[in-house]
Amino acid sequence: MTVLPDDCDSYGHVNQAAFLRLFERARWEALDRGPGADVFERHDVWPAARTATVTYHSPAHPGDRLRFDTTLTHVGETSFTLHQVARQSADRTLVAEIETVFVCIDRKGASTPVPEAIRAFYGTRPSLRSGVQHMMVRDLPTPVDVQGDGAPVLFIHGFPLDRTMWRRLISPMTGWKRVAPDLRGFGMNDAPLDPPTIGAYAEDTVDLLDGLRQERAVICGFSMGGYVALELVRRFPERVRALILANTRAAPDSSAAQTARLDMVRQVERDGVDVLVRAMLPQLLAPGSLTAQPQVVEHTRTMIRSASVPGAVAALHAMKDRADSTSLLGEIQVPTLVIAGREDAIVPVTEARQMADAIPGAQFTAIPEAGHLTPLEQPISMGRVVREFLDALS
Ligand code: MLT
Repeated sequence: MTVLPDDCDSYGHVNQAAFLRLFERARWEALDRGPGADVFERHDVWPAARTATVTYHSPAHPGDRLRFDTTLTHVGETSFTLHQVARQSADRTLVAEIETVFVCIDRKGASTPVPEAIRAFYGTRPSLRSGVQHMMVRDLPTPVDVQGDGAPVLFIHGFPLDRTMWRRLISPMTGWKRVAPDLRGFGMNDAPLDPPTIGAYAEDTVDLLDGLRQERAVICGFSMGGYVALELVRRFPERVRALILANTRAAPDSSAAQTARLDMVRQVERDGVDVLVRAMLPQLLAPGSLTAQPQVVEHTRTMIRSASVPGAVAALHAMKDRADSTSLLGEIQVPTLVIAGREDAIVPVTEARQMADAIPGAQFTAIPEAGHLTPLEQPISMGRVVREFLDALS
């Protein structure tokens, strides 16, 4: 949309109240291009706004072209929540964001179910291919999402996911160069992991930093990506400016966990990666997210299905044989943030807190209403914590 003079106040920038109108307009235009602006009327339903929380980031002036992105972040029986982000089309500067909770009501004002057409329209996943670049990593083209300019922050995904798990978290983090690769065997990266070790992922990460001509970066590792981050601290500490360890642990696999990994290897080799969807989805997400965040469930399922069988098998071996990093924690000398999901069934909050306590000066945050996939389930709350940590570094 183009900003018009009547959106602006006497200071010449879009007035705070005008943003409500612009966000509303963007919602209707999107519906108009999708299921139709009459989608609610057709279902005899009206979406009544219950709360709207706006965050203003930077000014917009007459003539600016703004781009609006809308995501369904929660859907219940009769209510749903939309998160919208407005950016400058020219350089993607974040201008404002809004979270709006709607309750569907009928003509008499009684609450009524959210139309299926609305769930279906907003529930689609951003394309795996959109925004991707290919960078040479150890002579192999590697798919990488790169957003923004500034000091680099490298986001390393978990198992069996891909780089798109970071998109909602990192897109508003302007002022930093956000870099998120697909590890070998995941997402759009078909390269084999040879040897199948966490160290091999760490070497790829260092090569990626070289390719970006960056001596050091903030390293943010989620779960298996956290194992990679700790391996970087062990072997390449000079490349780590600061650490964010999300939903991860320093301890190695117990012998029972190693046996379970080998069993999973056999199942994946026999039946394919769908086995991982069935086995892992219920553990990855908090019960509330499984029922109320259909787009997160769908995104997770699609990421798992994008993994290749050799990629998943190699990662299972790499995780099974990973080093014990507990004694490394006391030697970490860079600013560190540890993030846990309060309902994480894979890395319990108590274990994450113990890990933070063992790292000199580390910060610790447990995000409410989040399971293991905290960056996907609660991108706004986690984004706020990460942003504060990054801002303090700069
Ligand atoms: C992950 O999310 O990366 C995995 O759950 C980690 C693991 O299985 O140890």
